[in-house]
Amino acid sequence: MYILGMESSCDETSASVIEIVGGVPKIKSNIVASQISVHALYGGVVPEIASRAHVEAISGITYQALDEAGIGLSELSAVAVTSSPGLIGALLVGVNFAKSLAFANDIPLIAVDHVKGHIAASYFADDSLKPPFLALVVSGGHTAIYHVKDYTDFETVGTTRDDAAGEAFDKIARVLGMPYPGGAAFDKLAYDGNKNAIAFPSPAIAGDNFDFSFSGLKTSALNYINGARQKETEPDHADIAASYTGAVVAAIVKKVSMALDKTGSKVFTVAGGVAANSHLRAALSEMCEEKGIRFVLPEKQLCGDNGAMIALSGYFEYLKGKRADTSLNACAYSPLD
Ligand code: KG4
Ligand code: ZN
Repeated sequence: MYILGMESSCDETSASVIEIVGGVPKIKSNIVASQISVHALYGGVVPEIASRAHVEAISGITYQALDEAGIGLSELSAVAVTSSPGLIGALLVGVNFAKSLAFANDIPLIAVDHVKGHIAASYFADDSLKPPFLALVVSGGHTAIYHVKDYTDFETVGTTRDDAAGEAFDKIARVLGMPYPGGAAFDKLAYDGNKNAIAFPSPAIAGDNFDFSFSGLKTSALNYINGARQKETEPDHADIAASYTGAVVAAIVKKVSMALDKTGSKVFTVAGGVAANSHLRAALSEMCEEKGIRFVLPEKQLCGDNGAMIALSGYFEYLKGKRADTSLNACAYSPLD
């Protein structure tokens, strides 16, 4: 069977066709139209511009995804679309397009939660991955640890109490003059610096919990940079990137390690745009190896927002009999939050 997945929750319009053969998902096409160059002019995502850009792109990329997969609309078993969480105007573009496509062509419609979609990307990385397992979602909007009890049943183990890790990276990268989103450039720059150069506060909340707070770390880095600039000196960017990344990575590894101990889970996956961070990938791999945990790591292209992860999450919901109708609406927050 073929599933069309559609994603428009933030600054990427994506459509993908996946094929399920004997229960195993295969990506037939995964088209991602990024709006980054438009938002980079403003240093961050401008919601109204995002919505308009989704409207312009969505029809073209959907037909491109079908063409690349070599199938027609009549061969689709379902249309899956991100309906939460995200920018409301952006989500509405995908939801309304998917609704029209599904109902005009008599195809079942499935509503997908974006966070569950990110976690679904892990199944592409390893055909034999099955719940239960522990999953970390680290993106521009989320930093949370989930107990994946079943393909569609998730429990939040820990989460951020304020900003997300991606937002924390992008903010400091911007102050250091990198174009939006600075996460990937910051990742590279960190290799040139000393991670022990600056003692930034840990984003891991102290105590027996699995939560994070990135606002103190962000403020501390801003004060460090502004303090140096007030003295008319420019701080060492690479040292900041290395020390800041070190603080983020150490906190995430610590809380994931604690959550693995507490839940007794022997399988761990990571997803979301920040899961592309090479320092985080290496540190999580090392921690899992030391603890004898099976670590499933999706390839970098599937860590960021894409339609394939939405199609697969939609397939799991489809198997559970979940269907959406014309009353489907978008929701800015996730029921998992
Ligand atoms: O999952 P995603 O594409 O969108 C959201 O759902 O938010 O994640 C985007 C985030 C941005 O904050 C971006 O800077 C960050 O992922 N990111 C990275 C890296 N690549 C992307 N952050 C750190 N290191 C990277 N290599
Ligand atoms: Zn995302």
